[in-house]
Amino acid sequence: MAGEVALSQAISYARDLKEAYEAARAREQELGEANERLRKAYQQSLQYARDLKKTYGRLQRAILQGLLGLANALEAKDPYTRGHSARVAELSLELALRMGLPRPAAETISQAALLHDLGKIGVPESILRKPGALTEEEWEIMRRHPVTGAQIVAPLEFFDDGAIIVRHHHERLDGSGYPDRLAGQGIPLGARIVAVADVYDALISGRPYRAGLPHAEAVRVLDRERGRTLDERLVGLLVDILETGPATRAPGAATDEHGHHGAPERPV
Ligand SMILES: [Fe+2]
Repeated sequence: MAGEVALSQAISYARDLKEAYEAARAREQELGEANERLRKAYQQSLQYARDLKKTYGRLQRAILQGLLGLANALEAKDPYTRGHSARVAELSLELALRMGLPRPAAETISQAALLHDLGKIGVPESILRKPGALTEEEWEIMRRHPVTGAQIVAPLEFFDDGAIIVRHHHERLDGSGYPDRLAGQGIPLGARIVAVADVYDALISGRPYRAGLPHAEAVRVLDRERGRTLDERLVGLLVDILETGPATRAPGAATDEHGHHGAPERPV
């Protein structure tokens, strides 16, 4: 009798165990399924994040393209600076990469270079195209363009670093620049890069009142400025890029529309 009881208890125990095991298996399967759903949801959200990032990138580019359109409109107003921003951007990108900056930072500097003179949109054409020396009052208006340019791009949160470069592209190493008379390393690197490229391109480009300088002469001017108003290392790199590096353009490509050389002009 006792044996039978023990046997039926053992059978019932085994049945309970089997049920518990099956229930555990079922839960395990449910867990597995839930885990799979979670994994898929995670993958999906990753994909959404990637899509969103792509869309954001496209939006950023579209906004910058719009601003570029404005910059081109500005250059159309002043035929002597046509192509200037694009050349400065190309040189700035190369300089930034040679300085060892990561590509995204170098591209921001290049985009800022494309837009560096955007603030000239606020300068009357009579000043922009004036064929002679500017009066002090006209200079004062001209010197506002870095601040105006920075204000135009200020609402673009993703372009904060670019706005800083636009504002400071006329600062000079010895503190003689504008608008904030920053000096030395106090000038953001991106602004020092754009400044060197801007000065070189302004020197080799023709103006209504003077022809562009040949490459060798422009380099002599840069040599005088290196370490004084322009970053020494950057001037060295620029000359290296133009003379030996992957030719972003041919040296001595200055336009010589007017057939005479005037005094070298600081870019404005
Ligand atoms: Fe400028």
